[in-house]
Amino acid sequence: MAIRKILTEPDPFLRQISLEVKKVDNEIRKLMDDMLETMYEAPGIGLAAIQIGVPKRVIVIDLSKEEEKKPLYFINPEVIVKSENNSTYEEGCLSVPGQFAEVDRPNECHISYLDYNGQKKELKAEGLLATCIQHEIDHLEGILFIDYLSKLKKNYIVKKLSKQKKVLERIVV
Ligand code: NI
Repeated sequence: MAIRKILTEPDPFLRQISLEVKKVDNEIRKLMDDMLETMYEAPGIGLAAIQIGVPKRVIVIDLSKEEEKKPLYFINPEVIVKSENNSTYEEGCLSVPGQFAEVDRPNECHISYLDYNGQKKELKAEGLLATCIQHEIDHLEGILFIDYLSKLKKNYIVKKLSKQKKVLERIVV
């Protein structure tokens, strides 16, 4: 396993639409292992492959708070149905470091996906897991949570991150 670099806004790569995984093989499992290690180290509770520069429809999530890890792997996730009722969480994102905002999303979603072994599965998620899954599926479409905010708030965040990036680059160079 290896820790990979997480891309941050405004990297245009994050806006790419990720491609379907044709075959769940060892290469994909290695990708998921790396994603999980990168996510734990960050730390975060969800990560999409595009965030480490791989435009494939692969997501990892772990909501466990205890020592014992409970990783979830979703390959080619598709939403079958979403609830009409929304819930609101204060969201952040490893690709939008240090920024948080309230986002409304359907509080339940029913998805189909392939698991770590390439088996077709379905899951009815609610609450935090449903929000997390929808946030990650958005990444596969090139969507970030800041896209749901007002133009003013979004521009403010993007500007702030762009400035931080410039400073960081200066130090590195
Ligand atoms: Ni995110």
